[in-house]
Amino acid sequence: MTSGMEAEQFTVRVAGPEEDPAIAALVVEGFIDKFRPVFGRRMDRSVKIMEKWIGLEHASGGVTSLVIEGYSAGEIAGSVGVRTAASREDVLARGLWRNLERNLGLPRALWATTLLSYPRYATSSSEAYIERLVVSPDFRRQGMARRLLAAAEDLAREAGKATVALHVGGTNLAALRLYEGEGYEEVSRQRSLLTGYFLNIRDWLYLKKEL
Ligand SMILES: CC(C)(COP(=O)(O)OP(=O)(O)OC[C@H]1O[C@@H](n2cnc3c(N)ncnc32)[C@H](O)[C@@H]1OP(=O)(O)O)[C@@H](O)C(=O)NCCC(=O)NCCS
Repeated sequence: MTSGMEAEQFTVRVAGPEEDPAIAALVVEGFIDKFRPVFGRRMDRSVKIMEKWIGLEHASGGVTSLVIEGYSAGEIAGSVGVRTAASREDVLARGLWRNLERNLGLPRALWATTLLSYPRYATSSSEAYIERLVVSPDFRRQGMARRLLAAAEDLAREAGKATVALHVGGTNLAALRLYEGEGYEEVSRQRSLLTGYFLNIRDWLYLKKEL
C-alpha cells in the first residue's frame, strides 16, 4: 500500500499540444501487442499515426489528455485521455481515415479500421469516457495509473458528469485489478471473434463508476 504514496511526488497535469509525440510513443509501447497485428510490416509508422490520432482527438473536441511527469518535468511517465463530450465526427473520422490511408495504403488501412473499431462506444452526456491509459514500463507499480485515473475522475466531475466509464480487454489482468480496486464495476461486455483471433482479446468489458 506504499505505492500510492510514492506516486504523490509525481505531478499530473493537462498535456500541452507539443506533447502529442511523447504520448503517442507511450501508447504504442504500452499497447504493442494490439498494434503489431494492426500495423504489421508498417509498424514503423505506428508512432506517427498515433501522434496524428491524438492530435485529431484534441482538435475535434471532447478529449483532454493528462500526463504524469517522471523524475523531471520534461519526462512523461504515463498518460490518459478523457472524453467529456462528443467529437466533431466529420473532423475525427475523416482525419483518422486519411491518416491511416496515407501511412498504410488502402488495404491495410481498411484492415486497421476494422480491428480498431472495437470496442464500440457511443458518448453520453452524463458520462465521461477514459481511454488509452498507459504507464511506461520503467514506472509501473508505483501508483501512477491510480493517480492518472483519480485525476481523470476529477476532470469528469468538474465537467458535471455523473459517471465515468471505460473499456478493458478481458485478458488485461493488470488493468482489471487496477479498475476493480478503484471501484469500477462491469456493466456489460462485447464479444468479437475478430479481435479474439487477431488481438487475443475476445471480450471487451465495459466498466463504470459513479462519481
Ligand atoms: C495497466 C497499467 C496502466 C497500470 O499502471 P501502473 O502505474 O503500473 O499501475 P499502479 O501502480 O497505479 O497500480 C495500481 C494497482 O493496479 C493493480 N496492478 C497494476 N499492475 C498490475 C500487475 N502487473 N499485476 C497485477 N496487478 C496490477 C494493483 O492492484 C496495483 O496496486 P498495488 O501496486 O498497490 O498492488 C500499466 O500496466 C500499463 O500501462 N499497461 C499497458 C497499457 C494498458 O493495458 N492500459 C490499460 C488499458 S484499459
